[in-house]
Amino acid sequence: MAKASKKKTAKASTVRTQKRTSGYVHGFTREEQDRLYRQARFLEARVHEGLPLWRARNLIEIGCGVGAQTDILLRRHPDLHITGVDASAQNLARAKRHIAQLPWAKGRAAFEQGDAGALRFGKDSFDAAFLCWILEHVADPMLVLSETRRVLRPGSPIVCTEVLNATFFLEPYSPHTLNYWMAFNDHQLAVGGDPFVGAKLGNLLQAVGCRDIVTTVRPIHLDNRVPGERAEFIAYWTELLLSGAPGLVREGKVSAATVAGMTRELHEVAHNPDAVFFYAFVQAWAQVL
Ligand SMILES: C[S@@+](CC[C@H](N)C(=O)[O-])C[C@H]1O[C@@H](n2cnc3c(N)ncnc32)[C@H](O)[C@@H]1O
Repeated sequence: MAKASKKKTAKASTVRTQKRTSGYVHGFTREEQDRLYRQARFLEARVHEGLPLWRARNLIEIGCGVGAQTDILLRRHPDLHITGVDASAQNLARAKRHIAQLPWAKGRAAFEQGDAGALRFGKDSFDAAFLCWILEHVADPMLVLSETRRVLRPGSPIVCTEVLNATFFLEPYSPHTLNYWMAFNDHQLAVGGDPFVGAKLGNLLQAVGCRDIVTTVRPIHLDNRVPGERAEFIAYWTELLLSGAPGLVREGKVSAATVAGMTRELHEVAHNPDAVFFYAFVQAWAQVL
């Protein structure tokens, strides 16, 4: 899931991705890396329950970031070896340190810097692939999926989990927050990403020649029935939204007044006894022909 906002700068420690990577909106600060671990744990049940990876032994994780999902995959699938690929040297260095301190993950993960749109592996190198919150950041998601398919053996599962930012809603109605959210999404589109790519996963997987494609909309619909989870989620979402605010204001994409209004609204939502939080992302499972 995206956090705004960084300019489209190619850092020396990020591999050249020949315009395949959009301007990466997250950044690579320690704070952002920590957020990725919290986010992965927070959404673990929704992202990882029942994945079709029971026969997988040699999985490629595209856009593994700091290894937050790698950690969870290795814990949930004890027979799995994972090769994590990411464009960012900073994130990979953190991933290596993180996985190295998990005794049960010893010898079960390798990390490589590389462009998801130009994988250096030959065909049939892996028997499963996992992609989470990466296609929203690439300029050509079809190329990434086509490369993923190329390195998989026939019959291998691909699991993609992606954002669908048009689904966000809050009660009480929060116009500043929704304005900010529009600017956040516009910015991601402007730098070449796609905050709505979740809705397109079926088309994309079909276009690259996958079969048995199943897309599942995973709703996060929190109201008075689950007040504890609702409070946790609103706090998490507030962190996500506010973390991008300084960058968006700096770039003139939102006004300070909008951010102030959003901050007020989020506080009100957090304290409203009848608050509703709604967001849905999309998970696609497919098989390589
Ligand atoms: C939002 S993070 C998600 C990381 C991880 N999948 C997770 O869920 O915690 C997206 C990651 O994709 C990587 N990325 C973006 N474009 C890429 C590309 N073209 N090739 C490889 N990695 C890329 C970024 O460096 C970043 O680490």
